[in-house]
Amino acid sequence: MRAITERRELSSIAYGFIASKALFAALGVGPFTHLASGPRTTAELSHDTGIAASPLQTLLHALSAVGLIVAEGHSYTNAPACQRYLAQGAPDEFGEYFRLQLGQQIYPALLQLDAGLTGTGAASDTFADLLSRPDEARTFTAAQHAGSRGAAHVLAKRTPLGGARTMLDVGGGSGALSIALCTRNPRLRAAVLDFPAVIDVARTYIDEAGLGARIDLLSGDAVHTPWPADQDVVLLSYLLSALGATEIDMVLAKAYTSLAAGGLLIVHDFMIHDDASGPASAALWFLQYLAFRGDGISFSAGALSGRLRHHGFTPAETEVLIPDTTKTILARKASP
Ligand SMILES: C[S@@+](CC[C@H](N)C(=O)[O-])C[C@H]1O[C@@H](n2cnc3c(N)ncnc32)[C@H](O)[C@@H]1O
Repeated sequence: MRAITERRELSSIAYGFIASKALFAALGVGPFTHLASGPRTTAELSHDTGIAASPLQTLLHALSAVGLIVAEGHSYTNAPACQRYLAQGAPDEFGEYFRLQLGQQIYPALLQLDAGLTGTGAASDTFADLLSRPDEARTFTAAQHAGSRGAAHVLAKRTPLGGARTMLDVGGGSGALSIALCTRNPRLRAAVLDFPAVIDVARTYIDEAGLGARIDLLSGDAVHTPWPADQDVVLLSYLLSALGATEIDMVLAKAYTSLAAGGLLIVHDFMIHDDASGPASAALWFLQYLAFRGDGISFSAGALSGRLRHHGFTPAETEVLIPDTTKTILARKASP
């Protein structure tokens, strides 16, 4: 990332949180969906959303100023990315991920970031604490499902699993990745391991996908619950970033034990560049975990591959999955 030089660039970072909130508020109010079918005036959007014209106009000015919508005369249209990703019902829609997880959970939790940095407190004792509450688990998991579906599809398409029959999806959330991988690999059976309140939510998504007979659900804390053995594949998607340094090593050791000889570990997670020059979204995602736990760390693919080797794995392939945000590492347990 280029070092900033201008005062207005500083302001843009400082005001960025208001822009984020404008986006989350708009997702709650609904202009992106109402603009999906064509231009609307403020009065029409006021009628559509039930928000009084005056505050709505102020929101629309802000959305237009940051490029989320476009003013044309007295009407507004969606910016292309909002049309594609934020209008409800759009094929690539994932606005619920922003609205629910970022807007309703991460945004308020960040008030605790300073305390997390100084070790004087955290938003929840741990992630486990937040996700032990059924309402929070439902909100988080519904949002994550919306956010993970696209990545799951790409991962399943480009990761040949050969004749793999068993897969353990640890911290599997809604089961979005297991659903995609089982759909793509008809002989694969998966088990999703996650906290009990999350597993209750995952059941709905897996049943909806018609995969209840091929995806088992295991409730527990990944760090302490025993994992099934002889797995052909272990999948860790966004789990390691949610853990502290010691727990990461505990989980990698368990992954090695759980895999059959020659088995495949798939890690999908935020990763910064090896020279730590970015990308911003990965680095910021790691940072937000400090609001939840003081022992969170950030890692690059190189650093994580070093840890994997330390645990006996042979990391083979690193690829970007979500550009500027996440990568996958495929690593093998040695064959006998
Ligand atoms: C960001 S979500 C990712 C979910 C899913 N893997 C995906 O990619 O869509 C992280 C998941 O890890 C789970 N998780 C975090 N720490 C865990 C732990 N110690 N034991 C079990 N699950 C855990 C959370 O409950 C959550 O469902």
